[in-house]
Amino acid sequence: MRGLKNKVVIITGGLGDLGYATARRMMEEDCKVVLFDLLPRDQEKVAAVKAAYYQVDISDENAVKDACASVEREVGPVNILINTAARFIFKGVEATPEEWQQICSVNIAGTSLMAKYTVPQMKKNGGGSIINFSSVSGFVGQSDFATYNATKFAIRGLTKCWAQDLAPFQIRVNALCPGYIYTKAFIDSCEKLGLDIEEEDKRASAMHLLNRQGKPEEVAAAAAFLASDDASFVTGSDLLVDGGYLAK
Ligand SMILES: NC(=O)c1ccc[n+]([C@@H]2O[C@H](COP(=O)([O-])OP(=O)(O)OC[C@H]3O[C@@H](n4cnc5c(N)ncnc54)[C@H](O)[C@@H]3O)[C@@H](O)[C@H]2O)c1
Repeated sequence: MRGLKNKVVIITGGLGDLGYATARRMMEEDCKVVLFDLLPRDQEKVAAVKAAYYQVDISDENAVKDACASVEREVGPVNILINTAARFIFKGVEATPEEWQQICSVNIAGTSLMAKYTVPQMKKNGGGSIINFSSVSGFVGQSDFATYNATKFAIRGLTKCWAQDLAPFQIRVNALCPGYIYTKAFIDSCEKLGLDIEEEDKRASAMHLLNRQGKPEEVAAAAAFLASDDASFVTGSDLLVDGGYLAK
């Protein structure tokens, strides 16, 4: 991809399945990779992608402000922000105000705080790129998923608003929308619910025209494209990486 060498990229949810695959790809593109995650540092994983690591709760404004200032001092002003961090709360009408608060404070407000404290750095750089992870769940209804889907729809909305606000500063803002991706989280959730992994994989695969779940590196490749100069005329868009899930 063009224009990624030495760019400073923050990936939130950087220890998660898709965040970490994206970190690996950005390292391969010679970016300076910075990971933000709620989890304690995993030294082996962090070293493998030659990253700087900050343990940050993205819903905590002071923590985000301090960590972004440290990145600017220690690594350099941010060029690229990739927001993958998310809470996964799946509830319908029974959702409590506390559950709404928990999921919105991370998936919507936390994503927004990350932009608030990195956009001034991008302006200093004369431009930048923000990639917000939505989902096919940001396009359609899914049973018992209202809390999660509402936040993924919101991500697409704020992406389009920020694309307008930030275009004058040459900051592009796009939403990346994966279908079902075969991840450790998928395997863990099958095990937790006592479901047969192979059967569940078949069921999930059949929802996609390509009749399989996606791979984390396929999502990472799309993130690298949106971050790069190869996407220099792409802003305000939703990039589907969904194996045809929504084409059905
Ligand atoms: N996995 C899929 O099939 C899939 C499909 C479509 C969209 N997505 C989207 O991709 C993104 C990444 O999903 P994933 O499968 O990698 O999930 P994951 O659970 O593996 O990773 C999410 C990461 O976010 C971190 N996180 C959670 N709350 C945080 C907070 N408050 N502050 C900082 N970090 C926090 C977690 O610790 C975790 O490491 C999400 O936005 C999700 O909605 C995933």
